[in-house]
Amino acid sequence: MTQPSDQGAALDNLLTESRSFPPSEEFAAEANATSALYDEATADREAFWAKQAERLHWDTKWTQVLDWSDAPFAKWFVGGRLNVAYNCVDRHVESGHGDQVAIHWEGEPGDQRAITYAELQREVSKAANALVSLGLRTGDRVAIYLPMIPEAIFSMLACARLGLPHSVVFGGFSAEALRTRIDDAEAKLVITSDGQFRRGSAVPLKAAVDEAVSRTPSVGNVLVVRRTGIDVEWTEGRDLWWHDVVDAQSDVHAPESFDAEHPLFILYTSGTTGKPKGILHTSGGYLTQAAYTHFNVFDLKPDTDVYWCTADIGWVTGHSYIVYGPLANRVTQVVYEGTPNTPHEGRHWEIVQRYGVSIYYTAPTTIRTFMKWGNDIPAKFDLSTLRVLGSVGEPINPEAWIWYRENIGGNRAPIVDTWWQTETGAIMISPLPGVIAAKPGSAQRPLPGIGAKVVDDTGAEVPAGGGGYLVLDEPWPAMLRGIWGDEQRYRETYWSRFAAQGFYFAGDGAKYDADGDIWLLGRVDDVMNVSGHRISTTEVESALVSHPTVAEAAVVGATDPTTGQGIVAFVILRGGVAQDQAKGAEAIKALRDHVAKEIGPIAKPRQIMVVPELPKTRSGKIMRRLLRDVAENRQVGDVTTLADSSVMDLISSGLNTSA
Ligand code: WTA
Repeated sequence: MTQPSDQGAALDNLLTESRSFPPSEEFAAEANATSALYDEATADREAFWAKQAERLHWDTKWTQVLDWSDAPFAKWFVGGRLNVAYNCVDRHVESGHGDQVAIHWEGEPGDQRAITYAELQREVSKAANALVSLGLRTGDRVAIYLPMIPEAIFSMLACARLGLPHSVVFGGFSAEALRTRIDDAEAKLVITSDGQFRRGSAVPLKAAVDEAVSRTPSVGNVLVVRRTGIDVEWTEGRDLWWHDVVDAQSDVHAPESFDAEHPLFILYTSGTTGKPKGILHTSGGYLTQAAYTHFNVFDLKPDTDVYWCTADIGWVTGHSYIVYGPLANRVTQVVYEGTPNTPHEGRHWEIVQRYGVSIYYTAPTTIRTFMKWGNDIPAKFDLSTLRVLGSVGEPINPEAWIWYRENIGGNRAPIVDTWWQTETGAIMISPLPGVIAAKPGSAQRPLPGIGAKVVDDTGAEVPAGGGGYLVLDEPWPAMLRGIWGDEQRYRETYWSRFAAQGFYFAGDGAKYDADGDIWLLGRVDDVMNVSGHRISTTEVESALVSHPTVAEAAVVGATDPTTGQGIVAFVILRGGVAQDQAKGAEAIKALRDHVAKEIGPIAKPRQIMVVPELPKTRSGKIMRRLLRDVAENRQVGDVTTLADSSVMDLISSGLNTSA
């Protein structure tokens, strides 16, 4: 495991950052959350969470707030029953807000659709009736492989309404990645579309499902939304058009209630081994924390705000901060299908101006891309409606933070840097925008009701100014309830590192500054963070060695000015290929394509270096730290634990074969 002190030098300058931006008096005066929230949570944590759960409609009230007797398996709101979709949709119609726009949807080609809560209720009901007609029963899993179109949200909510745990697979993942996820969850149905619009053209999507499903025995049907109109292969009896099956249904559906601990979804995320982990989330606690954090961190005013989270529903941010948290809070939000530079680099700002977006939530990698494109682009648009800005996915460097504040937030809108994970289900560490003076680059404090600490190797909390590992020292309502089908891996991955203390190990390095605020320093395990997406080094290595030209491979995440980290692969090619320069160049291209095919384009190495050897310890473990030095053009560090210390010279001298 990498020591936190090994984190890139770029992160060190985070800690010399001393600027601080308190909220304006006007903002603080109107803010949803005041400092009283911290006091309330400290006084009685469980009573605090019980009060937060009152944000939801419960068909049956719980009898116990938290049952931690079977730790690390938590039960929250024991005995309570609710319907998640009812909470996100129907109750807003019943309270007289049926005409409020829930979703301002905008497709990449420019098509638009405003969906009110009343319409959302009808669409979700039709989809739910359709799923019932296909024979799905409570507990059955449904895989969703869709672009950012309204049907993606209808599908998730229809599943939630029926107690069918969904597994959303990001549309950028390959057929192979989709197949392993469908198989692991044994999904009975896959919902997809013919294709999707990407950078101005229609690209196939269903084709990957056809390939995946040919080898997944659990799947009975594939439900296909027509989005682009491109040709698709069709398997009679298995494939069904959404417009045939769903549109024919009644738009009335009575929701039933489910136990608070009923599984809501599985979402796969990269671990330190090749096999992705199916992170399991349940209903009552998850929705409580998603709604509570969305309301307080973004200071949501449901009657006046227009909210926009730019994530894809294939990631947890899309689950918690497009679908569940915001809709539970009766948001009006923008959902945009496409990329930020189609057809021009001001697309996001044009959308902010068009809909009067007031809360905007995105990732540092996107902010750095906007910086690269230039200040003049956002300057052409009216961004004066923006009043809260959010960041998520990786540490945000102070320069990007300041750029965001000045060029997007008009030096006025507070920025919330939100730390959390697929596993935590909802935001854990973030400033409250009306309470805390924000510091560029720091997520600062655990939210009221959340316990987080920075500890050393022994699990002891480090003093102010000290660095170590981030742990969560109290169970929280939206916490994962396990890894699908693998109890042992759940215990080992998160709970074994600090078993004596009973801490959840997040896998992130962190430091306290002199004020005791938390600064996140990136992963300390073999997980890379590329554009805010988690990709494991092992996963990419397995993809590389599955190619016939590769003998051995080692992958590291190297600091990258735009994507946070970039994937750099070191490969040893098999005999014949390695000797031939032209064949070597060809092989590198083939390898990049191969990784894209095995995992998805997001996992394509930025750089592949052909090397004669890999640096290994005497026990055979690859020393990634040294490879990272090479990838980041640094002086190579201590090589004394290498089995053969001349290997690094061999690698450094032969690096002209990179691409
Ligand atoms: C990183 C995304 C620093 C971190 C919601 C974490 C962050 C991983 C931040 C989870 C942040 C996320 N500051 N690092 N504000 N937000 N991370 O599961 O390394 O895709 O462990 O969840 O992203 O990524 P995941």
